[in-house]
Amino acid sequence: MKDTLIIFDTTLRDGEQSPGASMTQDEKVRIAKALERMKVDVIEAGFAAASNGDFAAVRAVAQCITESVVCSLARANAADITKAAEAIAPAPRKRIHTFIATSPIHMEKKLRMHPDQVVQAAVGAVKLARTFTDDVEFSCEDAGRSEPDFLCRIIEAAIDAGARTINIPDTVGYTLPHMFGELIRSLIERIPNAHKAVFSVHCHNDLGLAVANSLAAALNGARQIECTINGLGERAGNAALEEIVMAIRTRADVFPFDTRIDTTQIVPTSRLVSGITGFPVQPNKAIVGANAFAHESGIHQDGVLKHRQTYEIMRAEDVGWSANRLVLGKHSGRAAFRARLEELGYTFKSDAELAEAFARFKDLADKKHEIFDEDLQALVSETQHAQ
Ligand code: KIV
Ligand code: ZN
Repeated sequence: MKDTLIIFDTTLRDGEQSPGASMTQDEKVRIAKALERMKVDVIEAGFAAASNGDFAAVRAVAQCITESVVCSLARANAADITKAAEAIAPAPRKRIHTFIATSPIHMEKKLRMHPDQVVQAAVGAVKLARTFTDDVEFSCEDAGRSEPDFLCRIIEAAIDAGARTINIPDTVGYTLPHMFGELIRSLIERIPNAHKAVFSVHCHNDLGLAVANSLAAALNGARQIECTINGLGERAGNAALEEIVMAIRTRADVFPFDTRIDTTQIVPTSRLVSGITGFPVQPNKAIVGANAFAHESGIHQDGVLKHRQTYEIMRAEDVGWSANRLVLGKHSGRAAFRARLEELGYTFKSDAELAEAFARFKDLADKKHEIFDEDLQALVSETQHAQ
């Protein structure tokens, strides 16, 4: 039996922190229901103390989600934690996620606190959160740039205070996969009470490494990954849920764990998030981009028509697309051209007729990015009338 990797989705919290991506209460509820259908383990619904609107949205999510754990973020202070507790109260399964920065630059320049005060605040926050729920997560903000010795000290104290999930964020997307993996491995090895908590990671994508860093961490002992749909999030975003889940599923030979995610819900949820936020998904985005399962070149199309696995490592249907796509364009070959026309109900009387239609198609493809079914229909009828 493989271990289960917990998928913690923060589209509604960190995702919403993407400039321009704020969502209404109703929109958050629709996305939360889609995440629950996808079997996400933990839904971070928002930051209850951030605004009255976010408090109401977290509460509305807590009122309608029954299977996934509903979580609210809270800074390490009493006001935030009591707000978070009040907002998540209606949920049958609830978590408070409290955090404080642990890197020298954040402690000195932002918090203006001595490291001893930071430890004290973390312990107080976790203890208070535990009076509302047994499920408390503690995050060391900017852990990627924190001193490992200080991380060991504060994490040990947070676990003693009752934290059951310890999250190690790479807040500014600064780490590299081999270093981040090593950091997670050494923390778990060095902290005497580490076995009492699940180690989690939360990676930002400033260098395009959020998914790679998250997977490296999981290979070194992390058992929760925090991520968002379409990789939405602050600045360059967070690790993309769809990429993490499909990397683990597709390379089951490498990963000693799996997730509970129903992957067929990935594309519908991606579309929903994109529609609500107005953030389009780039066509070449892995898994959920319009071209992720589309083939244009003749060599690839011929291969895929003979055997899909020649150029596909996943099935489009497994992530919620209706099918893969052979796109007709100037690089396409005769095999795909003929196959599409046969699907449309056309047959050719002779090889000469096919050759003539194919030549007309190539001329047209030099002028147009993509050839649609209507173009093909016009082209065949012209060829047949010319013969
Ligand atoms: O990036 C970050 O450090 C965060 C924490 C609040 C978990 O979003
Ligand atoms: Zn973050």
